[in-house]
Amino acid sequence: MNCNVQTRIGEQFLEVPFYNASGVLCVNTNDLDKLYECNYTGAVVTKSCTLKYRSGNPEPRYWCGEYGSINSSGLPNNGFDYYAKWMIDKNTKPVFLSTSPMNKNELNIIANKIRDLDYIKNPEFNLSCPNVINKPQIGYSFDDMKNTLQMITEILGEKKFGVKLPPYFDPIHFDYASDILSYYNTLSYITCSNSIGNGLLINTETEETRIRPKNGLGGIGGKYCLPVALSNIFQFNERLPNIDIVGCGGIYNGEDVFQHILAGACAVQVGTCLYENGISTFNKLYNELIELMRKKGYKCLNEFKGKIKII
Ligand code: SIN
Repeated sequence: MNCNVQTRIGEQFLEVPFYNASGVLCVNTNDLDKLYECNYTGAVVTKSCTLKYRSGNPEPRYWCGEYGSINSSGLPNNGFDYYAKWMIDKNTKPVFLSTSPMNKNELNIIANKIRDLDYIKNPEFNLSCPNVINKPQIGYSFDDMKNTLQMITEILGEKKFGVKLPPYFDPIHFDYASDILSYYNTLSYITCSNSIGNGLLINTETEETRIRPKNGLGGIGGKYCLPVALSNIFQFNERLPNIDIVGCGGIYNGEDVFQHILAGACAVQVGTCLYENGISTFNKLYNELIELMRKKGYKCLNEFKGKIKII
């Protein structure tokens, strides 16, 4: 049986439904090229950029164990112009610019640049970085989220865009967030979710934190995140039928991809597993997803996307 795993995010077409999570293998052009040239990535997203270069938080700022990772990278990146330049003439698969402006002034400048560059399509505005000291996550303040979306839409005009959200935990917060998100009809997709912010992993032997910044607190990624990501996809999919959902969190194999799509995702991003296992991750995910679809008799993603059965 021939299986087709093509998908769409907004109006952008992807041959396969997986790509990197922003932050992983996408800070410099060497790594971005590898992702772009890989036959098993459907798209590429850049590191969330600020207006200018940032070196990020002090090291060690990443650690990974059996169940996943903790990071407090602090948005190390090469600045907006570096990523915008890399994106020129990338026409064979979608490339998404991710941005996490440091303040309103930067947001204003970056959004204006994005509006003026036709080839930047569906940028991902990151409303959820937990690791910048003294900068709260926008997605956890609904007033800030509304003001930010208002400013983005006023500047971008008709240009479509997406947002990367933090994970939510209480159904009322999904209601509040959905009310705001559904108001903006140029918002074409949401990415659910960023890392679980301000977790703490401890080394029992040395009795130390695993990372240095923020007294050891950082974003939790990897296997810890799968149920949280699935719940976020599922709960937003119920509330936002007209917005595409990109799943992110806890993907290690084809079954995890299948579950994200079953919960309502149209595509998925891979973070910790990609960081730990490299680019061959995508070939493995492809083979495992196809095998599972064949076993279940599914020929394309739409046959099971969002069709989770409630018992
Ligand atoms: C970081 O650079 O600290 C991670 C980015 C993010 O979690 O949004």
